[in-house]
Amino acid sequence: LKRPFVFINSAMSADGKISTIERRQIRISGPQDISRVDGLRAESDAVLVGIGTVLADDPGLRIRSESLRRDRLNKGLSENPLRVVADSMARTPVDAEVLGPGCLIAVSMSAPEERLSRLSERCEIVKCGAKRVDLSGLMSILYERGIKRLMVEGGATLNWSLIAAGLFDELYVYIGNLLIGGRDAPTLIDGQGFSMDFPMLELSSVERMNGGALLIWTVNREL
Ligand SMILES: NC(=O)c1ccc[n+]([C@@H]2O[C@H](COP(=O)([O-])OP(=O)(O)OC[C@H]3O[C@@H](n4cnc5c(N)ncnc54)[C@H](OP(=O)(O)O)[C@@H]3O)[C@@H](O)[C@H]2O)c1
Repeated sequence: LKRPFVFINSAMSADGKISTIERRQIRISGPQDISRVDGLRAESDAVLVGIGTVLADDPGLRIRSESLRRDRLNKGLSENPLRVVADSMARTPVDAEVLGPGCLIAVSMSAPEERLSRLSERCEIVKCGAKRVDLSGLMSILYERGIKRLMVEGGATLNWSLIAAGLFDELYVYIGNLLIGGRDAPTLIDGQGFSMDFPMLELSSVERMNGGALLIWTVNREL
């Protein structure tokens, strides 16, 4: 499969939660980490999230720093990376921050036509997968469009699907200095979980940051 280099970036509490039990976004990292994430966006060709994250957080997924946006324009790139949402049933609200030029919603063949026609006024739509977005299909489509470096910004369910399908290469995890708890609060990776053949990682960097730490893990396909 020809696909982009895929890395997941996430912030979690010291107990591995990425939001609260109410799925409410809370501040896990600090200013240094926020600008690090901005830098990662600026170096990416596209940013991908799941519809759960759009509904919970309504992220804009654009680069915050004006100078990073200007650098991209000077290099002949688009001001922001392509913003992509995996949204099988086209549930993205028409007033979602992510929409607008430079946004692509990946839907399945089962997405209702009337939602698609409303959404298509605000973004581009691609169909792949019968009932759910076929992530390997989406990767091929993105690769064909020149996306070589894809940043995944969650959430828990999309992270799981990508990892379970072997569609990721690197994991950036910021571990913040707080505890969230709650059995049903989203973790870095939810989904079904592995019972065997656990993906193995190699630790490539550890850095203290904003009272917590940033870990960079690479997939170790040899283990
Ligand atoms: N701390 C952080 O770094 C961070 C970052 C992002 C999000 N979050 C938190 O994570 C939570 C959201 O996570 P979430 O697990 O609810 O949602 P999510 O992973 O953002 O989105 C999951 C949804 O994506 C859609 N999807 C489409 N194709 C898929 C596929 N092949 N595999 C998996 N999902 C697919 C599914 O809905 P359909 O079937 O309708 O398509 C699925 O329910 C929020 O509480 C948010 O605050 C935290």
